[in-house]
Amino acid sequence: MTTLQRAEAAEHALSQELDRVVVKSVIFTSGERDPRQPVSRPPDDGRLYMMGHDVRLPKMPDKPTLFDFFRLRFGPSTHLLQSARLAMKNGVNEKIVLACLLHDIAIAGFIRSDHGYWSAQLLEPYVDEEVAWGIRYHQALRFFPDESVGYRYPELYLKLFGADYVPEPHIQEAHRYARDHKWYMTSRLITVNDLYAFDPTVQVELEEFTDVVGRHFRQPKEGLGFDQSPSAHMWRTIIWPTRYL
Ligand SMILES: [Fe+2]
Ligand SMILES: [Fe+2]
Repeated sequence: MTTLQRAEAAEHALSQELDRVVVKSVIFTSGERDPRQPVSRPPDDGRLYMMGHDVRLPKMPDKPTLFDFFRLRFGPSTHLLQSARLAMKNGVNEKIVLACLLHDIAIAGFIRSDHGYWSAQLLEPYVDEEVAWGIRYHQALRFFPDESVGYRYPELYLKLFGADYVPEPHIQEAHRYARDHKWYMTSRLITVNDLYAFDPTVQVELEEFTDVVGRHFRQPKEGLGFDQSPSAHMWRTIIWPTRYL
């Protein structure tokens, strides 16, 4: 068996153990398999397809809060917590602390590619427009130094993407647009506090930011995912990533 066949066999075996059939979204597997090929699915054995809670995941409360997502759907989020703490230490205003806490939530729990845009879209209904804007453009601004605030091109990026990586035209265009915008500095301050060297000895608790989130994040009373906002469906997909529809 090839590696891919082995992975698919393992997937099948796992799917057999569930009482519901799970078919992964194309975007979750594209690249590992050729997206032009039909998605493989287990033979029809009369089981129903997944339409709700996946028992392999921790169950979310009926009305989930932002912190529930941090605890039950995002990774340890050390990068976000340490960046937010650095922002606090640097004395920026609370909205920027919040922006730092949330700037990479797409990476933490949704989709990595174009994470600034996905993060902003998830958050837009719940934070000030300026916060969402800053988060959207931090992705592009990270690639461009700004001496005026002591921001240099990240050494980590040299290591990750190579010394000859040049941001694509759409990233350059986003940078040019953001640089001339009245909220440029909001986005820039996210990059300034965007820690890329984690200190494994530093433990930051989510509760440190309870007040900042309480004051600047409009938590919907119905719970994230269930308030009919323009991004509610994205939060629901994070709750139920394996629903068939
Ligand atoms: Fe980022
Ligand atoms: Fe980041």
